[in-house]
Amino acid sequence: MIYLSIKLLHIFSVLIYGGFLFTDNLILMRMKKTLSKQKYEEVRGYFKNFTRAIVPKALILAVLSGIYLFHTSFGTISNDGLTNFQILLSIKAILGLWLGIRGVLQVFFGIQPFVFKSHKLPFILVIIIVALSQIMYGV
Ligand code: HEM
Repeated sequence: MIYLSIKLLHIFSVLIYGGFLFTDNLILMRMKKTLSKQKYEEVRGYFKNFTRAIVPKALILAVLSGIYLFHTSFGTISNDGLTNFQILLSIKAILGLWLGIRGVLQVFFGIQPFVFKSHKLPFILVIIIVALSQIMYGV
């Protein structure tokens, strides 16, 4: 029951984080082309104020719940080495942890990443992570 609750928490926090990235990359970017600069800055300001209180916390929750799920579902490493599931889950975990650390440094410590400062890279990584989360059970 605990595992299922944490997994639900993982999925909902990922939904909030992924939804933010989707809106930012696909909706707001389009708005930039149609709205006046002033109107766009205004809309962007609203979006930022609303999301700033929720999204970083959702990302942290996704990472913390992910660490628990990883700890419970990774399993032991046999003498034959890592299974395909363990390899893909590890790649997913590393990408997720990197997103988490990057996000926390950016939001809570104001430390900007050296490269890819926009939300494009996190959006692409979330799509890859979600795909991995399904493929890992099929290989
Ligand atoms: C922040 C980016 C992350 C995203 C977008 C993400 C997304 C997902 C999704 C969509 C699932 C599949 C749920 C399902 O099929 O029902 C999942 C499951 C899982 N995630 Fe994440 N995750 C993230 C971070 C992490 C991290 C950092 C870890 C580990 C350190 C992790 C570990 C897991 C594990 C172990 C599962 C499998 C749970 C199961 O099927 O029982 N995730 N994740």
